[in-house]
Amino acid sequence: MNVDALIDKVPKAELHLHIEGTLEPEMMLALANRNSVTLPYKTVQDVKDAFAFDCLQDFLDVYYHGMSVLVNEQDFYDLTYAYLSKVHADCVTHVEIFFDPQAHTDRGVAFETVHDGICHALEAGLRDFGITSRLIMCFLRHLPEEHAFEALNCACKHKETIYGVGLDSSEKGYPPAGFSRVFAEARKQGFVPVAHAGEEGPVEYVEGALDDLQVKRIDHGNRAFDDPKMIARLAKEQTPLTMCPLSNLRLKGITDLELHPLKRALEAGIVATVNSDDPSYFGGYINDNYKAIAKALALSEEDIIQLAKNSFSAAFIDDKLKQKAHDQVDAISGLK
Ligand code: HPA
Ligand code: ZN
Repeated sequence: MNVDALIDKVPKAELHLHIEGTLEPEMMLALANRNSVTLPYKTVQDVKDAFAFDCLQDFLDVYYHGMSVLVNEQDFYDLTYAYLSKVHADCVTHVEIFFDPQAHTDRGVAFETVHDGICHALEAGLRDFGITSRLIMCFLRHLPEEHAFEALNCACKHKETIYGVGLDSSEKGYPPAGFSRVFAEARKQGFVPVAHAGEEGPVEYVEGALDDLQVKRIDHGNRAFDDPKMIARLAKEQTPLTMCPLSNLRLKGITDLELHPLKRALEAGIVATVNSDDPSYFGGYINDNYKAIAKALALSEEDIIQLAKNSFSAAFIDDKLKQKAHDQVDAISGLK
């Protein structure tokens, strides 16, 4: 089996995916029409033309603007269901999805509208595709910590459906320590913590996410590779990295996929995973990310098998399910 055929067939989990970042241009325009929202784009090509970014902030400006078409529960349902049906075709069997409630409540959309639409689609995804899921609520780091506490209060009413908390949006100038108290309260309330760190921000932010927020995974973590001590720490503590190659390329965190640190992470014994981040905006879903990085770094079949297994090892599922998923990866790859 060649590497691309293996990627197509192997079961995998996606652990770094912003549901609002799956909004395809076609759906953006259809929802703008359905909800009478005015956008500066008339055609699918106009929207695609706006997807040219020089950095994270360039993307975030378009991302927050685009999501203004998401208004009703049905919109969040349609968005989530469309994502699940796409990744079902990519052999994704488990997803851990981020959502950004503050980006919706700030413009008058109720927390429950967002939450219920996503959760009903996740239930349908289990029923129709057998995809299991976890939902992770992200705090927006460019907003004050008090706003994050308001989102946490809302999440506390939905502990049965919201599994974890994350930290996303503009990174530089917003170190993790600014969110220590809200993360401490979230952990006390039983939410599992993760955070974006080292996407654009320095390795100190990776350290801050580990020490100040006590995260269980680092989202991105690219800048960790600036510091051998941090590479050794991530390997020793087995803190997974949810890496997103096409996102890093499109936001110019790297100039060339061949420079991506994924292979170095694997060689160091870090639990690295491959994910799509915001697939509509960055030009590819999960298998596109696997294929692009496999080509750029000349990954072997064994590397792909390791990455698929890592995706389940790093998932928030119990050990029995991890073992079952690893066995399924072995079965597909012909090792068992
Ligand atoms: N980085 C930070 N925040 C985000 C991203 C990202 O790639 N996508 C959506 N919010
Ligand atoms: Zn992200």
